[in-house]
Amino acid sequence: MLHLGRALLCVFLLPVKFARAQTYSATYLPSNVPPTTEEGQAGTNQCGTGLNQTSNCQNAYINSVTDWCIWGPPQPGPGSVIGNTERIEVAWCTKNGTGARLIPDGVITGAHFVQTPDFVQITGIGNLTFLNVPAGDAGGELDPHGADGNGNPIGGLVFSSAFGPLQQIFEWTNFISDTQFCIRACKPAPQAPTFCQHIYDEMGCEWNMPANYDAGFETCRADSGEPMGVYGASTFHQGEPVTPAAHPRPSSSSCTTLSTIGNGFFISGTSIGISAPTSTGSSGSITSGSRSLTSASSSASATGSSSGASRVASLDGWERLVVGFGSAVVCSMLGALLVL
Ligand SMILES: *[C@@H]1O[C@H](CO)[C@@H](O)[C@H](O)[C@H]1NC(C)=O
Ligand SMILES: *[C@@H]1O[C@H](CO)[C@@H](O)[C@H](O)[C@H]1NC(C)=O
Ligand SMILES: *[C@@H]1O[C@H](CO)[C@@H](O)[C@H](O)[C@H]1NC(C)=O
Repeated sequence: MLHLGRALLCVFLLPVKFARAQTYSATYLPSNVPPTTEEGQAGTNQCGTGLNQTSNCQNAYINSVTDWCIWGPPQPGPGSVIGNTERIEVAWCTKNGTGARLIPDGVITGAHFVQTPDFVQITGIGNLTFLNVPAGDAGGELDPHGADGNGNPIGGLVFSSAFGPLQQIFEWTNFISDTQFCIRACKPAPQAPTFCQHIYDEMGCEWNMPANYDAGFETCRADSGEPMGVYGASTFHQGEPVTPAAHPRPSSSSCTTLSTIGNGFFISGTSIGISAPTSTGSSGSITSGSRSLTSASSSASATGSSSGASRVASLDGWERLVVGFGSAVVCSMLGALLVL
């Protein structure tokens, strides 16, 4: 005695509701977060403040051009392409004291921070093989959703003080390849999911976040521009036959440039050392793990077109299937209840 019409309507409506709910439900600060925040999490959200280049800290900050983090593989090696490690990646940060791994000086050769009415964003370039991204990896996209809503990486949290006191950022997106990166944190607001859209995971940095990717360091104010994928009244969906051009770079103003974003940590051979110009010897050397970089060919630009990215895409399909099936079952039960 199932009300078929109602059940069918339900099947179409519920996935939308479920998809919207696929985000973190709790709000934390680094000071009150539990050790882990999601089932299946590889690292931790209780990071302390220590300096540890094997840290599995999964808290990232986006505060300024000198204080930001991106996600990267925990281990080096050819198998560590972003697409394979997206669920377990760890935070790599420019500032000491976050408990995460430090990005050593010289790795980042360009970083551009913009603050817009809707988000803050860092775009740039560097030799990200030092963050364990394999040479030649075109990279992929990280966001707080993922196949199960637990995030890529699972349990990865982003915080920012760009919109007031330090707070958790629920909508963010990060692309990283061996040579390029971009990360956007959206101001908590109803339009945040639109400006931090995560469904264009194969389109790369310059399409998702048109901005400055040149060498050098700067901070600017900027317009928000159009959300990724939105072209006036129409919305592009990844996979459609004609891919529209990237939006033009939103205009910026009040730019200030910096000569460096250095933090005093440098790369020394295959290890990462603490620069200690006045102390005797370099006893503070921190091993970053042996790396096996063989090829330096780098045509990549965080295009997200690696095998990993297509894995993301197929997981998204799987996600819709599971959600669709789940809602069909729930709806059938609801429908039956309503009829009874
Ligand atoms: C560094 O982090 C790793 C991974 O969380 C942990 O096993 C190790 O004990 C930490 N080392 C120090 C000195 O805290
Ligand atoms: C890094 O930060 C930790 C914790 O705040 C501190 O103990 C350590 O001395 C700092 N290291 C450097 C080189 O600044
Ligand atoms: C990146 O760093 C690695 C390790 O030092 C080096 O072998 C490689 O040539 C560098 N890549 C570029 C593009 O400079």
